[in-house]
Amino acid sequence: MNAHLVIAIDGPAGAGKSVFGAALARALQSLCIDSGIVYRAVTWIALAHGLDPEDDATLSPVASSMNLQIVPPTVQDGRQFTILIDSQDVTWGLRTPEIDRTVSRPSALPGVRRAVTEQLRHLARDTRVVMVGRDIGTVVLPDADVKFYVTANPETRARRRADELQARGQEADVADILRSIIERDTRDSGRATAPLRPAHDAVHLETDNLTIDAEVAFALDVVQRSLRSTTTLETKDV
Ligand code: DC
Repeated sequence: MNAHLVIAIDGPAGAGKSVFGAALARALQSLCIDSGIVYRAVTWIALAHGLDPEDDATLSPVASSMNLQIVPPTVQDGRQFTILIDSQDVTWGLRTPEIDRTVSRPSALPGVRRAVTEQLRHLARDTRVVMVGRDIGTVVLPDADVKFYVTANPETRARRRADELQARGQEADVADILRSIIERDTRDSGRATAPLRPAHDAVHLETDNLTIDAEVAFALDVVQRSLRSTTTLETKDV
């Protein structure tokens, strides 16, 4: 077993990275870290305390010192885990349209990114990990064993996000979501620090017409091939 197998998954909002990452991590018996949660948490704190979401001097200390915990689900409402900020359950609070609209702003700040990147590298140290985000293969873990760049067309992504909100009993207008996704893509890929882009050695995966099982089977094959010369991969059915 490769104790330090490191998988990086990047791609735009709603491409299906988190579900894919979680399923791949289960198959590989790895820890799965969704780095977007950390940027969402910084944004949540900024909004909750009336802080300017574009003020790096205020938000980078928040990013390095916030009390963020990710623990097993405390409520059976479809969540994969429970997220706490200062012991307050913010699991769904991090997924509101307001956070979606705002999160690209703190995410573009160099100091916030430095603080988050440091924390993410620390979490990934000495462990088998699948990490999901925008700059994992390019900046956070450039030496990852395997990198995936996951995409889907914007309409598919907006539809998925609407389904997700409706499943939680919230209103969802696909056209609004599509607009918000396109704006977020533009900001995430246009920012100066660590913009969203595929690593040169990333394997591309388009998820529009794939089931999650097909995605995981494809990914395990890629992982297996990339490790073939050195070792045998042990996996688990998901
Ligand atoms: O994956 P997500 O939608 O939860 O991510 C929320 C935001 O966080 C996304 O719009 C950009 C930012 N992000 C980032 O800049 N770098 C990462 N590695 C992960 C997320």
